[in-house]
Amino acid sequence: MSLNDSIKAVREQFRTAIEDIPNEPSKLEKIRVRFLGRKGEVAKLFATMGKIAAEERAEAGKQLNELKNELQSAFDSIVQKMGKSSKKSQADKFDYTLPGLYAPTGSIHPIESTLNEVKDIFKSIGFSVAYGPEVDDEYHNFDALNILEHHPARDMQDTFFVEDRAVLRTHTSNVQIHLMENKEPPIRYIVPGRVYRNEALSYKSFCLFHQVEGLYVDKNVSFAELKGTLDYFVRRMFGENVKIRFRPSFFPFTEPSAEIDLWNPERNQWLEILGCGMVNPKVFENVGYDPKVWHGYAFGIGIERMAMLKYKIKDIRDFYRNDVRFLEQF
Ligand code: PHE
Repeated sequence: MSLNDSIKAVREQFRTAIEDIPNEPSKLEKIRVRFLGRKGEVAKLFATMGKIAAEERAEAGKQLNELKNELQSAFDSIVQKMGKSSKKSQADKFDYTLPGLYAPTGSIHPIESTLNEVKDIFKSIGFSVAYGPEVDDEYHNFDALNILEHHPARDMQDTFFVEDRAVLRTHTSNVQIHLMENKEPPIRYIVPGRVYRNEALSYKSFCLFHQVEGLYVDKNVSFAELKGTLDYFVRRMFGENVKIRFRPSFFPFTEPSAEIDLWNPERNQWLEILGCGMVNPKVFENVGYDPKVWHGYAFGIGIERMAMLKYKIKDIRDFYRNDVRFLEQF
């Protein structure tokens, strides 16, 4: 084969070889070695120079140098292109100067987390959780609880009437009646839920709020146990040093009755957080429990009031506005 043919053949092989490179960049170095390496095709052709007639040698050297430069610069431009394109595609994928992706997170509403805390505390001391209807008849919301037709308490709790004798429950105490109608004593339940009152709206009153009712019925239940249990509960919620007071009160369905106030340092005043008392024997009679055998205590905790103290919220209406600037803080 003449030198010219050999040069053509090597050039051909080189062209074919580099066609593959975009698909398989790992071949790059192999191809460089095969053609331009110290023992590569071009070097092999230079090695044949000795056999070439002296007068043709200058021309042969020139052609081989051309081949070598041609291959080298073709190779270099491939390397350059690949370098650029790989840098570019990386830049497309990762722009390190972009701000991070914002992953919006939800949070637990302060009412929900307060409810959960109350539930956890009472569950840890033997209470079960029950639920009851938000729309109820007047019997369960009032009459069975000894709140009689013309009793002032029915005005006290301004009521939303749904239909004739159906109401939006004004407290969770209606579930006391449902529980006792359906279960034999002893029973020990808490009942979380929404309640509704047609009240004048203010920073501490809203038409809808949450209560957790408590009902414990057994033989020999005492007022001391009620006091001890609620004192324990309030201190677990607000810490050992919280300032509270028991204040005598009145509810038709408990006798005697009391309320617990918590000191609100922000407002420099007491805030009522729950009502409680010993279950009135009349209520036991209404559900068919023998009041000579069974005693019990009941309580109703206002969740919004507690959440306001816990999270230092100044206006009860903030819980229901769904303003993200408010909700984001929790
Ligand atoms: N139901 C009363 C209220 O809503 C609270 C209460 C519950 C009081 C149970 C005594 C016993 O104000």
